[in-house]
Amino acid sequence: MIGPFRTRLLRQLGLPSWSPLGWVVKHFLQQHNILLEQAAVHLAVLEPDHQVLELGFGPGLGLKDALAKLGPHGRLYGVDPSEYMHSVASRRLASGIQTGQVKLLRGTAESLPLPDGIIDRVFHCNSYYYWTDLDKACKEIKRVMKPGAFMVTTMSLSTLQKLEEDGIFKEIKWQPHFFMDTLQRANFTDVNMKNFQQGSIEYQAIFAAVN
Ligand SMILES: C[S@@+](CC[C@H](N)C(=O)[O-])C[C@H]1O[C@@H](n2cnc3c(N)ncnc32)[C@H](O)[C@@H]1O
Repeated sequence: MIGPFRTRLLRQLGLPSWSPLGWVVKHFLQQHNILLEQAAVHLAVLEPDHQVLELGFGPGLGLKDALAKLGPHGRLYGVDPSEYMHSVASRRLASGIQTGQVKLLRGTAESLPLPDGIIDRVFHCNSYYYWTDLDKACKEIKRVMKPGAFMVTTMSLSTLQKLEEDGIFKEIKWQPHFFMDTLQRANFTDVNMKNFQQGSIEYQAIFAAVN
């Protein structure tokens, strides 16, 4: 029983779909990932006129937080392959979508539906573990970024470690060095990871810049 359930849970975490388990995963993400999403937005140091991209936005909590930091000339793009997450996030970001300030795009980090060199900040949270081709994704992220732009991703290493120990993340390459090595291969600069603490919660962020 555990084997098939683990597979279904992992599939829903990686690509939430319209299903009872997908609904549970959506609620889990909304309740448990808000701190990491808000931390990613905070660490991205957004300016009002920035062009911002979130990858794997899920229910859209980080997008909502990022939008509040942008002025009328700022733009917010979200890319996620899940139809279900698009529908949830579209409702959450409805007013920004209506004004044209927010664009939610179906797609993947490996093939970004965006032109070259337009993005000032990229952020993501609990998403790169599910990308199928990290090398391709990092090249794509770099392609859409402006010179001087940077990317930040947040995670809780203790939670990820626990998911591995519980057998849920058995074959998943969540360890930061996989992502950081790939960022270096794609010629990102200043690739580094820092530890942060908020109350009793400890989390980590990986940063990478484009010259
Ligand atoms: C565990 S959820 C995290 C969602 C949200 N960032 C959060 O922390 O609540 C992973 C998200 O990554 C998205 N995702 C999966 N594969 C992706 C890919 N190749 N490129 C971009 N996003 C992807 C999924 O659809 C899902 O919304």
